[in-house]
Amino acid sequence: MISSHLLSWYDQQGRSLPWRRESSAYELWLCEIIMQQTQVATGIDYWYRMLKVFPSVADLAAASIDQVLSEWAGLGYYRRAHQLHKAAIIIHEQGHFPLNHAQWLKLPGVGPYTASALASYLFKDPIAAIDGNANRVYSRLFDLPLPVDKAEGKQAIQALGNDSIDKDRPGDFNQAIMDLGSQICKGKKPACDQCPVSTYCLARERSSIHLRPVKSVKITVKKAHWAFMLVTHQGKIAVTNRNNQGIWPGLVTLPASQPENGQPLLWSCNHALTHMQLHITIHEAQLSDLNDSITWVDINELSELAWPQPFTRWLREFKYI
Ligand code: ADE
Repeated sequence: MISSHLLSWYDQQGRSLPWRRESSAYELWLCEIIMQQTQVATGIDYWYRMLKVFPSVADLAAASIDQVLSEWAGLGYYRRAHQLHKAAIIIHEQGHFPLNHAQWLKLPGVGPYTASALASYLFKDPIAAIDGNANRVYSRLFDLPLPVDKAEGKQAIQALGNDSIDKDRPGDFNQAIMDLGSQICKGKKPACDQCPVSTYCLARERSSIHLRPVKSVKITVKKAHWAFMLVTHQGKIAVTNRNNQGIWPGLVTLPASQPENGQPLLWSCNHALTHMQLHITIHEAQLSDLNDSITWVDINELSELAWPQPFTRWLREFKYI
């Protein structure tokens, strides 16, 4: 069983962290909010300091946001401090901490990961807490080929985690996964020889550790403005052959201009490519604006050239073709 190996490793070699000893709901909640985007070594000091200045949720609720922010200073992601304070007021007003997973989820600053972690510590709910570390561990253990940042992959990881979690010690199991992810099953250079569950690890067996977790390819769409000029002379138009470079290899366009060229605007359009959102403008220009890498083409022969799609639109709209 994965869980018995993992828990006996955790009992012997898990990190000895202060909130892992008999902590209250307040202490555990505060810890999870602080640790959301913070290294444990940094977070511990803040956890102690916040508990000293605000020993109970009533103290936190009674404090001003400025007092909370001044204790939070240096920790970053200040939205967390605002949400922590808002949630403290809600908890204080309702007179008790949330009584189940669903109630935790309703509090500001508490997402699925935090609610699952807290419900596993406080109510022994067998729900896997899935953060970046857990994604990596589970997707390797089960050699999951689905992207973990898409709905299907997220559901699969949650289901694998919930199936694996120890029903008697769900909180310890979740924290053991956190330790495994941060100490052993690291993104780069995982220490598989020290892993207590390496014999169960499908990705290790199939040599796909470095391929897990799968992340969906994020396409960054750049925005660009490309300006071109229309120069006519004796019934001909100046064009440029784009050779085999760029997005329109081998095609023909009008000669390039500068976006801030001051030339009168004749036409514009937006052209969406996979990686780029192009704003294209065509300006009226003079012979003297041209450099020498152009070809003159008779206005009646424009339809014989291979134009990129936006230029075909322009030629049609201007009745050149
Ligand atoms: N990161 C977030 N929660 C944590 C916890 N309970 N223990 C260690 N690291 C954590």
